[in-house]
Amino acid sequence: MNTETTADTASAGTSADSSAARPTGTGFTRRALLGTAGAGLVIGAGAGAAGATALDRTSPAAPAAGGGALGAARVPFHGEHQAGILEPQQARVQLAAFDLADGAGRDGLRALLRRWSRTAARLAVGEPADEQENQVALDAGPCSLTVTFGFGATLFDKAGLADHRPPALEPLPAFPADALDPARGDGDLFVQIGADDALVAVHALRVLQRQAAGTAALRWQMSGFARTPGATARPMTGRNLMGQIDGTNNPKPGQDGFDTTVFCTAGPDRPDWLAGGSYLVFRRIRMLLDNWEALPLDRQERVIGRRKSDGAPLNAPAPGGESSPVDLAAQGPDGSLAVPADAHIRVAAPAANGGAAMLRRGFSYHDGLLADGSPDAGLLFLAFQADPRKGFTPVQRKLARGDGLSRFLRHEASGLYAVPPGAREGGYVGQPLLEG
Ligand code: HEM
Repeated sequence: MNTETTADTASAGTSADSSAARPTGTGFTRRALLGTAGAGLVIGAGAGAAGATALDRTSPAAPAAGGGALGAARVPFHGEHQAGILEPQQARVQLAAFDLADGAGRDGLRALLRRWSRTAARLAVGEPADEQENQVALDAGPCSLTVTFGFGATLFDKAGLADHRPPALEPLPAFPADALDPARGDGDLFVQIGADDALVAVHALRVLQRQAAGTAALRWQMSGFARTPGATARPMTGRNLMGQIDGTNNPKPGQDGFDTTVFCTAGPDRPDWLAGGSYLVFRRIRMLLDNWEALPLDRQERVIGRRKSDGAPLNAPAPGGESSPVDLAAQGPDGSLAVPADAHIRVAAPAANGGAAMLRRGFSYHDGLLADGSPDAGLLFLAFQADPRKGFTPVQRKLARGDGLSRFLRHEASGLYAVPPGAREGGYVGQPLLEG
């Protein structure tokens, strides 16, 4: 579910301008060049979120350690929102969840979040993690590293914070055909580590894991990937392992209602500590790729409702582009719907779900073969939203009941996390909760 943007959507002003945020194969864009004025590249959150959001995150450039152009790119850790939500997906991701140790309690949690936040801020500017640096990422720059922390529902009781658990963190309902492995889902603390270099991402995970020792134990871990910046001749929306251009119709920073869709800006049952935060729904969704790849191209396209080649909706005359307007009422020459009744984009569209929307920021995974010889591969679906009860849940209810895509998917793991707002300089993620 890449949010990188094609030139046509960017020029239409409807898409996150990822070209402004990351060095590309064809050189640097103006914004990136401006960022290099000091030394290292500094990327504002929102990757082209015109206006306040992007600017808030951009701090004066300081030299970034090591790395070439890609390596020197960095995303500030501190800001209104946590890093790793608004930026385009990096080439690599490490996802992990930790469970709090017995007896760690609120004090242990506070100390851990302080330690983790300090480390994430250092790694984000290419500094060594701490005195026990293992040098795994030595020589590389920060490579757009972001570390995003989330709190699972189970954290609150264990840390003596039950009164502060937000109602929207209630467990997701069971959906038809769910095949969830509890050992690979949920967890007290969630961490998303993104970077444009695999060693940089893994290094960060190892450091956080070591720093958690005695306070929290790793519950599960998964690795994912998206397109590497510069892999295409120009910045483009990425493709998933089914070969589809994925991320086109994501809400875009700057659009009306973007902030209220993605961030907890208000709401009667939103706790104060979560103001400016978000909720993250995670699903490990295996793709039944052998079945999918046996389907002829035109049927694959009807499953989604968009052409594979250019991502244009099936109502748009060729050659179109992924930014061609979707017309769900359009009919083909035979009078049937151009975008089929069970097409994924029709069933998932906000218009079909009472306005429910979310910011999808998933990554592909490919973990070898299963016992039956089929690929253990798919999508680490990640969606940020202001309220999962009004975003993911109604949409997934509809999809699971029978959109064209669901029969090629298995939801194998799931998690829901409250994502606190960003930390201020010198502060730590979760501070308003733990010291409020
Ligand atoms: C492996 C699983 C999935 C795949 C491969 C997939 C693929 C796609 C593709 C190719 C598009 C069209 C391009 C775009 O607008 O991004 C799309 C759109 C979308 N998907 Fe999915 N998707 C998956 C799972 C989900 C899930 C679980 C949800 C939410 C419950 C979801 C919600 C959406 C939404 C809201 C849109 C935009 C619809 C619109 O307004 O046009 N998708 N997806």
